[in-house]
Amino acid sequence: LAGIFAYLNYRVPRTRKEIFDTLVKGLQRLEYRGYDSAGVGVDGPRKNDNGDNVNICLIKKRGKVKALDEELYKNDSIDLDIELDTHFGIAHTRWATHGEPNAVNCHPHRSDKNNEFVVIHNGIITNYKELRKYLKSKGYKFESETDTEVIPKLIKYVYDNSENDYVSFSTLVERVIQQLEGAFALVFKSIHFPGEAIATRRGSPLLIGVRSKYELSMEQIPIQYNSTGETLIVIYLQDDDIAAVAEGKLSLHRMSRCAGEDPNRAIQTLQMELQQIMKGNFKAFMQKEIFEQPESVFNTMRGRICFDTNTVVLGGLKDHLKEIRRCRRLILIGCGTSFHAGVATRQILEELTELPVMVELASDFLDRITPVFRDDVCFFISQSGETADTLMTLRYCQGRGALTVGVTNTVGSSISRETDCGVHINAGPEIGVASTKAYTSQFVALTMFGLMMSEDRISLQKRRLEIINGLRMLPGLIKEVLTLDDQIRSIASELYQQRSLLVMGRGYNYATCMEGALKIKEITYMHSEGILAGELKHGPLALIDKHMPVIMIIMKDACYTKCHNALQQVTARQGRPIILCCQDDPEITKNAYKTIELPQTVDCLQGVLSVIPLQLMSFHLAVLRGYDVDCPRNLAKSVTVE
Ligand code: BG6
Repeated sequence: LAGIFAYLNYRVPRTRKEIFDTLVKGLQRLEYRGYDSAGVGVDGPRKNDNGDNVNICLIKKRGKVKALDEELYKNDSIDLDIELDTHFGIAHTRWATHGEPNAVNCHPHRSDKNNEFVVIHNGIITNYKELRKYLKSKGYKFESETDTEVIPKLIKYVYDNSENDYVSFSTLVERVIQQLEGAFALVFKSIHFPGEAIATRRGSPLLIGVRSKYELSMEQIPIQYNSTGETLIVIYLQDDDIAAVAEGKLSLHRMSRCAGEDPNRAIQTLQMELQQIMKGNFKAFMQKEIFEQPESVFNTMRGRICFDTNTVVLGGLKDHLKEIRRCRRLILIGCGTSFHAGVATRQILEELTELPVMVELASDFLDRITPVFRDDVCFFISQSGETADTLMTLRYCQGRGALTVGVTNTVGSSISRETDCGVHINAGPEIGVASTKAYTSQFVALTMFGLMMSEDRISLQKRRLEIINGLRMLPGLIKEVLTLDDQIRSIASELYQQRSLLVMGRGYNYATCMEGALKIKEITYMHSEGILAGELKHGPLALIDKHMPVIMIIMKDACYTKCHNALQQVTARQGRPIILCCQDDPEITKNAYKTIELPQTVDCLQGVLSVIPLQLMSFHLAVLRGYDVDCPRNLAKSVTVE
């Protein structure tokens, strides 16, 4: 999280002192956004033969903006009274998300020791690890622990490898942001483009102010005039806009997200090698994404839950919280796995918000022409943020005046742009068609929403603390569950020739059964069904005999006894259930054909753990059946048609 500010004066003389004052004042206006370190990047004293400043100096300081302010005037290597006709300075104040607050981690970040390219960033780059690994393999040396540092090094990589000699600053930036995943507002400065500024954004706000004594013609942008007759313009950049200032001229253009094959060979190499790096030494992206969940779940919470003060802040909802608090009903809408994330968190949301919660499949919601009202809050859960059914329901609900909230994993996607507000789950790019880490991150994001809604409910404080503590432990517990991989593979080797596989559970684990069954359907093409254990005697029990493979989820929660009854019903019909249960539960193990023992967490979070064995199970079944795990037949990663 951060505040970024930049100031360019073109043929308007300003002393260095005036420039510093302007940059510091800009940061002070943003200090509420970040305050553990601050820094500036300004033109240094060296000039080239046509008088351009050709070096950049960075002054960075841990602590509040005031500390930087003092540092600027202490720095006697810079003449404060010199007047500069043209100058471009960038400034940043930081709230650390990656790497502790110190001068090295503070922005602006640079491409190399000569500060060829420097950048300031607000947001989170979710694929920074892969980019960092790639750039290191090309010899780039990193000095900070931040995600941001990959950006200046990437633009230097693109600059150094641009085949034809002249590539504009904005083209370089366009090539860079096409490789970035996550949210960003960025401003670039470079010694190769003196006096030029490039600004761009995706998912983080960024605006440009222009003041000029000349008449400015900007179609469809409102122009104001100040007391001295100067022209004042404010431009709000949209996602993937690129703003460039060169020779005092401001130009705006929109980058095409789905640019075809980039002509530049270095970019193509980067993209191919990035794919390999992302897969790591896993057989498939889906497998890598399953094993990435300790980290992706942590990233979903990063910068939002403060475990020291037990507070939860979802920045993207803050401005709408009052309105959300006044609502009368929550409606969670999604498709496939995203729908299951809604089912998985329905009960805890009912408990923490004390509101009725509906969970809807987008296509059915539209078929029914479901009544929606102004005092409804509708959540649109979508990994891709492009699923047509979900997008159609978003527009349907907006047309009826409901407040709309996006829960997506793709910054700049249609759903994240068109909803009134939202939460980016920051799970990092999910390549496998069958969703895994997006599910657990959606699960955590929705739970955090419930925690935020119940912040001031005295009666719920104990429960909230229990859940927040559960979330803190969650990444470690996920790691523990992943160590069961071998055991699950051996169980899969007994099951993979079966035609069908039933998954039963109830309460907090009902969603897990549906999600597990969907995983099995999607990638192994075996018939599978998630069954509510309470429904067993109303029909599904007829399916049970000693040949029907059954997985049961029985956790030590309020449904334990009822699940136990279901187990009796199954074993009474010679069913031989594989049981997902909590560690050391002899009552269960003696009735099970096999057990998969999981660590126990808070009841409403147990579903994050219990889904993992089923993700692994579906993966191993698919491999044993010789299918392509990442690209299952007939399916697409995002169905953008109805
Ligand atoms: C399907 C995907 O096409 O769409 C599923 O194969 C996904 O994995 C579903 O759950 C919904 O997609 P999204 O992007 O809206 O979550």
